[in-house]
Amino acid sequence: MPQQQVETRLTELRAQLQHHAHQYYVLDDALISDAEYDRLFCELLDLEEQFPELVTPDSPSQRVGGEPLAAFAESLHSLPMLSLDNIFVAEELEDFEERIRRRLSSSEQITWTAEPKIDGLAVELIYKNGLLIEGSTRGNGLVGENITANLRTVRMIPLRLHGTEVPDQLTVRGEVFLSYRDFAYLNQQRSEQGEPLFANPRNAAAGSLRQLDSKVTAARPLSFFVYGIADAVDTPCQNMAELFPWLQALGLPINSQSKICRNLNEAKQHYQHLLTIRHELEYEIDGMVIKVNEFRFQEQLGNTARAPRWAIAWKFPAEEVVAQISSVEYQVGRTGAVTPVAVLEPVRIGGVEVRRAALHNQEEIRRKGLMIGDRVLVRRAGDVIPEVIRPLIEQRSGSEEKIIFPKICPVCGQPLHRPEGEAVTRCRNLYCPAQRLQRIIWFAGQSGLDIEGLGPKNVKKLLAEGLIKDIPDLFCLDKNQLEALEGWGKKSAERLLQAIAKTKQTTLARFISALGIRHVGETTAELLAASFGSLDKLRWATQERLLAVDGIGEQTAAAVTAYFADQENRELIARLQDLGLTIQATEKQSVGTLTGMVFLFTGTLSSMTRIEAEERVKSLGGETVSSISKKVTHLVAGEKAGSKLKKATELGIQILDEQKFLRVTELSIKTA
Ligand code: IVH
Repeated sequence: MPQQQVETRLTELRAQLQHHAHQYYVLDDALISDAEYDRLFCELLDLEEQFPELVTPDSPSQRVGGEPLAAFAESLHSLPMLSLDNIFVAEELEDFEERIRRRLSSSEQITWTAEPKIDGLAVELIYKNGLLIEGSTRGNGLVGENITANLRTVRMIPLRLHGTEVPDQLTVRGEVFLSYRDFAYLNQQRSEQGEPLFANPRNAAAGSLRQLDSKVTAARPLSFFVYGIADAVDTPCQNMAELFPWLQALGLPINSQSKICRNLNEAKQHYQHLLTIRHELEYEIDGMVIKVNEFRFQEQLGNTARAPRWAIAWKFPAEEVVAQISSVEYQVGRTGAVTPVAVLEPVRIGGVEVRRAALHNQEEIRRKGLMIGDRVLVRRAGDVIPEVIRPLIEQRSGSEEKIIFPKICPVCGQPLHRPEGEAVTRCRNLYCPAQRLQRIIWFAGQSGLDIEGLGPKNVKKLLAEGLIKDIPDLFCLDKNQLEALEGWGKKSAERLLQAIAKTKQTTLARFISALGIRHVGETTAELLAASFGSLDKLRWATQERLLAVDGIGEQTAAAVTAYFADQENRELIARLQDLGLTIQATEKQSVGTLTGMVFLFTGTLSSMTRIEAEERVKSLGGETVSSISKKVTHLVAGEKAGSKLKKATELGIQILDEQKFLRVTELSIKTA
């Protein structure tokens, strides 16, 4: 392709990818499938690889992160990034208004904005001629850290402003944060990898942004909302009410819960509203920010050294309450980990009754210096399980008792074990009934085979009634016995048996995850399935081979080999297979970079046989067919291509010549 044509295609691809990423990440309204997006992205990477001189800083390919830095450079803010003064009760809002009115000495009406105060990290983004050229943290307000490479990886941050009327220069400010869901996902991955967990979404977002290796940041699903600009002269807007839609039209994500208020009564109502919906939001907010809407008033009011006079943060009441620890329970998980849980005198936090709170492990109890009978601060954040923060030592009566971590398993009585340097104490008895119960719950649950109707309650019941002893027994359940269970009947028995039968055909990833191997959850199981392709290959994998899988660390590799080294586990798998549990052989194909694409070959290929070419597609997760239909996404046309080529052109199917096919698939093999 001549360079001119490549440039045009690159511009086209970038615009398309930018548009679709905006639809997906900002507007939550995808217009094309993931596979289609990946195809466009692949084409872009392919062209950029051939023409590296044509790579631009706003290319979507630049979101994957670059070379690690030795240290962050400093970044001087053109105007200081201020903090906000806080208020806690409605009356203080009146004082705030009063102060403003006195300073303005104007009888004109002031209007306001009321915005959620997002609990993340403030960042500044500088756009020159529409292009993101620098991004930084707040730092000390005057000088922050230059984290441009990291911010480029945040999908909600446009690398180029949208539209035709972009300002020459624009400095915006906003908050980078992690949603609860992405936080939970990140921590799940970390727990699978045996890495320390982040305490809350804010810490996780901060840790992710301050990575010297932007590839690490790129792998963290950070989000962003813009809440303001450094200097209103860069905009044609007179007030915040005009600013928000203007920023939005430039492709910057604004928060949909922000409201323009005619008076502070409306702001108070909005505060109550945010307080009620707080836990329905996908991200953590810790209050509401109220700002003067009109820029000319903002300018007249100015700032103190610390904060603007025209804005204030009205914090939500703390979601921390005082509760009393009445006892400590020890739960034994599926891998034998013994987790202490504080049993509390029931308290309400944010409208929810809390009776138990996480104590994490023995080390945490020691570090916090907790005792039974202590009055403690308990915090609830979003969907996360409540946790004990610290004891109120000054309120101790002297009757508190030491928390003595058990030396033997509270369920099976075998000695507990805590390896040197590890925080977790374990029961190592594989026959421990608690572990067995949790293993069956895991196997049947969402991370396992996902057997409908077989949640923890029913697993416990089946065990208690002696209908099952271990996982394989699930596949030998007797209809009559099930029917006879208290509260069960013909229908419920049939429903369960059908649900179990339905899961007998499973995928390799699901099966690996269902086994409940330590450090191996759904995500890791998918990595293993994609890399090994069969249970047999995984079973005989050495530590070295496991470590070669991207995303598998030492602990996971050791856990996997230990699992398969155990005779008992091998027998369990053999029994499951005897009972008819089968793993679909397609697993390796379903996760490649050509997933979702359907290839049809026509004409003669010169570098390989058609069968080899088809194998190549399949090994990358694609499908091949032999006749033309709408289902076909790509036609590979060799020498002397005939009617299929014509038909494909009519159907608008993407056509690749042999060279192009080789390049796309070779690139996929490299990135797979
Ligand atoms: S305005 C000069 N608006 O809260 C005005 N800040 O406690 C400064 N924050 O550093 C910020 N949501 O990181 C503003 N809607 C919002 C906000 C918000 C969260 C953060 C921001 C700021 C901190 C001050």
